[in-house]
Amino acid sequence: MTKQRIKIMVGDITTQNVDAIVNAANNSLAGGGGVDGAIHRAAGPNLVKESLLLAPCQTGEAKTTKGYALPAVWVIHTVGPIYHRHSPDKAAELLAAAYQNSLREAVRVGAKTVAFPAISTGVYAYPREEAAKIAVQAVADFLRHETSIEEVRLVCFSEDSAESHRAALKNMLG
Ligand code: APR
Repeated sequence: MTKQRIKIMVGDITTQNVDAIVNAANNSLAGGGGVDGAIHRAAGPNLVKESLLLAPCQTGEAKTTKGYALPAVWVIHTVGPIYHRHSPDKAAELLAAAYQNSLREAVRVGAKTVAFPAISTGVYAYPREEAAKIAVQAVADFLRHETSIEEVRLVCFSEDSAESHRAALKNMLG
């Protein structure tokens, strides 16, 4: 069952013991603040050396590096939309693509467990409730056709963020 493979939790994505964690990066893949900064700090200096070789990463696309000092084997770098730069429909399309292209990368490298942060809901100012609905729908739609991924964790940095995701998962159709 798809919904059973989606786990919502409050936590720090850099400590997750999963095959791949997803980084909410920017187009340059040069690191930054927020979760991007936390992941680079935890992975160590080799991460940016590899990510820069893969740059740029278009919004909605995803590129994979090793995890270095992180517990995760892989870091899947994706770039979510900067909310105010797009129409609401385009922003939604790009956010869903960021989740689904990250999962495509996870399948490509053979990752069975994947952890996401709440992409675009920080610096990129995507409204949290709307972003949570898009996140759970995009992940569920992908998992419906992909059985190789056993677990997708949505690792929220606050109880409010987790609550938005739990409500979205509960209300999700299908
Ligand atoms: N673990 C899990 N989630 C985290 C962590 C962490 N250690 N640190 C922050 N977050 C959460 C934030 O609270 C937010 O809900 O990740 C979500 C995404 O926020 P940002 O990191 O600001 O990412 P985003 O909104 O996608 O903006 C990306 O910010 O850091 C820069 O280089 C990055 O330019 C890019 C932009």
